Order: sequence, then C-alpha cells, then structure tokens
Amino acid sequence: MASFVSAAARRLEGKVALITGGASGIGESTARLFSHHGARVLIADIQEELGQSLCNDLRNSAFFVRCDVTKEDDVENAVNKAISEHGKLDIMFNNAGIVEPSKPSILDNDKAEFERVIRVNLVGAFLGTKHAARAMIPARRGSIITTASVCSTIGGVASHAYTSSKHGAVGLMRNAAVELGQYGIRVNCVSPYLVATPLAKDFFKLDDDGVYRVYGNLKGEVLKPEDVAEAALYLGSDESKYVSGHNLLVDGGFTIVNPGFCMFGN
Ligand SMILES: NC(=O)c1ccc[n+]([C@@H]2O[C@H](COP(=O)([O-])OP(=O)(O)OC[C@H]3O[C@@H](n4cnc5c(N)ncnc54)[C@H](O)[C@@H]3O)[C@@H](O)[C@H]2O)c1
Repeated sequence: MASFVSAAARRLEGKVALITGGASGIGESTARLFSHHGARVLIADIQEELGQSLCNDLRNSAFFVRCDVTKEDDVENAVNKAISEHGKLDIMFNNAGIVEPSKPSILDNDKAEFERVIRVNLVGAFLGTKHAARAMIPARRGSIITTASVCSTIGGVASHAYTSSKHGAVGLMRNAAVELGQYGIRVNCVSPYLVATPLAKDFFKLDDDGVYRVYGNLKGEVLKPEDVAEAALYLGSDESKYVSGHNLLVDGGFTIVNPGFCMFGN
C-alpha cells in the first residue's frame, strides 16, 4: 500500500517534459507541478532570466532552453535538447501564447498584428507538435498538450486574432490526434477561462489581486495557474492514457451558459 501511495504521489516519475512559455504564468506553474511529480522539465521560453531563475528554484529537475516558438530551428533544437540530455521526450506542452491589445472593430485590426498572434499561438503549437511527434513516433508513445482557451469554443471574449488562433489550435490538435493515434501518441488541449497571469492582467486590465470584474459561472472559486497545471498534469500522466483528441475546458462552466438568457439566476 505504501508503494502505491508514493507512486500515486509522483505521477510523472521518470518522464521528460518540454514546456514552451514555461517561464511565466500557467507554464511556470506547470513546470513546478511536473517537477514536483518527478518529471525532468525543459523550460523553453524567450524570457531567459525568468526561465533560468525558475530552473534554479527547481534545482536538478529542470533546465532552460531559449526558444522562440515561431522559429522552427529553435523548436527543433529544444526537442533535440530533451533527447540529448534525457534520451526521450514524453510530454510536450505547447503553452507559449500572446494576446494583442484589444481593438473595438475589425476595421482597426492590422494584418501584421493578426499574423504575429497566429505565429506564436498557432504556428508555435504546430511546430511544437511536429517536432514532438518526430521524437515520440519512434518511441510509440507520448502526450502532446496545447494550451488553447475558452476562446477556442466561443467568440467575443478576445480579439479576432486570438480567437482564431485558439480555434486553430483545437483543429490542429484534433488532426494530430487522429494521425498520431496509430503510434500511441495522445494529443489534447487544455482550455482555461481567465487566469490572472501577466498576459491576462495586461489584456483585461485586472487588479493586482487578480479579481475579475467579468462574468464567471462557478461562484466561490477563482481560477489559478495551478488549477490549469493540474489539468495539464492529468493529460500528461498515464491516468489519461485513453484520452486523446480532447479539449479539456477548465472554465467552471463558463462556455456552456448564456448568462443573458438563463433560468437559474446566475
Ligand atoms: N491567462 C489567461 O487568462 C489565459 C486563458 C486562456 C488561455 N491562456 C493561454 O495560456 C497560455 C499561457 O499564458 P499565460 O496566461 O500563462 O501568460 P504569461 O504571459 O504568463 O506566459 C506566457 C509565456 O509565453 C512566453 N512566450 C511568448 N511568446 C513566446 C515565443 N514566441 N516563444 C516562446 N515563448 C513565448 C512568454 O515569455 C511567457 O513566459 C497562452 O497560450 C495563453 O493564450 C491564458
């Protein structure tokens, strides 16, 4: 019984995980949680100082690799680093993302800004999925996770570019799940509601305490980066061994209700 408990307590023992956007917010929380559960973690980000200091915190279980997810060479190099350091890649977490300042009308949106968001959020996820698959196919196992968003299923919450990128991330995940299933590789998304990370604080002009002035369905709880990390932990661990092609919404029911037309008084 004791060995069962300790195995369950370290749900990623022996696994190797690469986390893009791992220096901050959801990625940082996930790096901490994965490391706590026995994984060796590569933190891939453009914020070198932050990433390095997180690695120092996590001591021997993590190291930093500078990686701009829009650059194929960088992503290829990050995956190669996992292989050269640890001999394999078990979990790829395509989590890096950006949002551009909100503009009231599509007429004010320019092409360059739209493409910039698509490049990080969607092309980045594509490159991560591609190079993870390259490493995972010979092993005939692996878990690829992409951070999408509630904006992957509904419109009107964020910009056109961001919403398009997150819908695209789910489409990519589904296609990749179908193709890579033959090799035993699972591909899923995790889709959070609002979390008070630097990205969201900036976009939604949240207070420092992260209190939202916007509608949330589930009362009495505030979504934290750690909660999203727990969902990623589930998708990365063997506990989800038959889950693939799934978009796991971590949104307290936000996307299933229209609060303007609801009989339950929320
Ligand atoms: N915070 C939210 O409310 C929320 C909700 C739904 C989805 N998300 C998604 O969660 C993911 C993580 O965002 P977060 O909220 O933790 O924000 P964050 O700003 O704290 O973290 C994003 C990380 O991505 C990195 N990054 C940005 N561009 C990069 C690039 N080109 N290459 C490599 N790394 C890059 C940043 O340096 C940063 O460390 C994003 O994909 C975001 O779209 C966030």
